[in-house]
Amino acid sequence: MATKKILIDTDIGGDVDDALALAMALNTPDIEIVGITNVYLANAWRSGVTRQLLKVYGREDIPVCTGAEKPLIGWWDESRIPNSSPDYGEYRGEALPHACDFIIRMAETVEDLTVAAIGPLTNLGLALAKAPHIAGKIRILMMGGQVNKAHPEWNIVCDPEAARIVFESGAPITMVGLDVTNRCQFTREEVDMVKSAGNVRSDTLGQMMEIFIQNFGYLPILHDPLAMSLLMWDDILTLEKKNILIETAGQYTRGLTIDCDWGDGVPVTVATDVKVAEFKRRVIELLRK
Ligand code: RIB
Ligand code: CA
Repeated sequence: MATKKILIDTDIGGDVDDALALAMALNTPDIEIVGITNVYLANAWRSGVTRQLLKVYGREDIPVCTGAEKPLIGWWDESRIPNSSPDYGEYRGEALPHACDFIIRMAETVEDLTVAAIGPLTNLGLALAKAPHIAGKIRILMMGGQVNKAHPEWNIVCDPEAARIVFESGAPITMVGLDVTNRCQFTREEVDMVKSAGNVRSDTLGQMMEIFIQNFGYLPILHDPLAMSLLMWDDILTLEKKNILIETAGQYTRGLTIDCDWGDGVPVTVATDVKVAEFKRRVIELLRK
């Protein structure tokens, strides 16, 4: 099987699902992670979390870059990031390029690159604004949006202007949104199944999940793992073509991903259904490795 080359853009350290998605990719032999970029406040701290996870998986060779500390317009509220990780401190080592420039460099040099965007879209929006030609060189697989409800999803509403740049860039986009991800929540028993694998990797994920459950007050929902799963399995999600428009102006609707069945918006591949039980079974198996 040909190796899939991916760059992961992530707000790891907030919701625990980013760490689970990264672990899935690290445990999949035919996926090559060419780099990881962090986004959304506290980037040096997120970089510390990312590097610790890479260390546990024996993959400290993967470059990690810090990214946007604020959205294109306005500010992010620092009180809104409860953490789901032990405190590994801020990374203060070798300075790598900013996430925006790293994404551009990878898009220009890595053939058939997929950008797995599992956080707010600011880094990717900046990269596509600075170097629009990279839209023709990458595929974007994102956890983001929702089309069946007028309720904005976090990764889009955190920076609707950046999301609009990304959607209107012309890059092929597959969007896995809350329509399907909200149906995929671990039970207590499933968290324990991951934890009981008895190796340093599953122990680390278990520790992160417990901190998340304590800080957020609910069991992990597999938002980002479901998006990542498209790189592993093609029989879990149902995909449909839709025309999607990002609302940036509405008083009540800012950040919505609107399904424009009247023809406006841009063509996007959207996940509309999921085989929940089989997905969770496979994720648990992968995370126990
Ligand atoms: O809305 C879900 C998204 O927001 C996921 O990417 C999760 O990690 C959080 O950042
Ligand atoms: Ca995320």
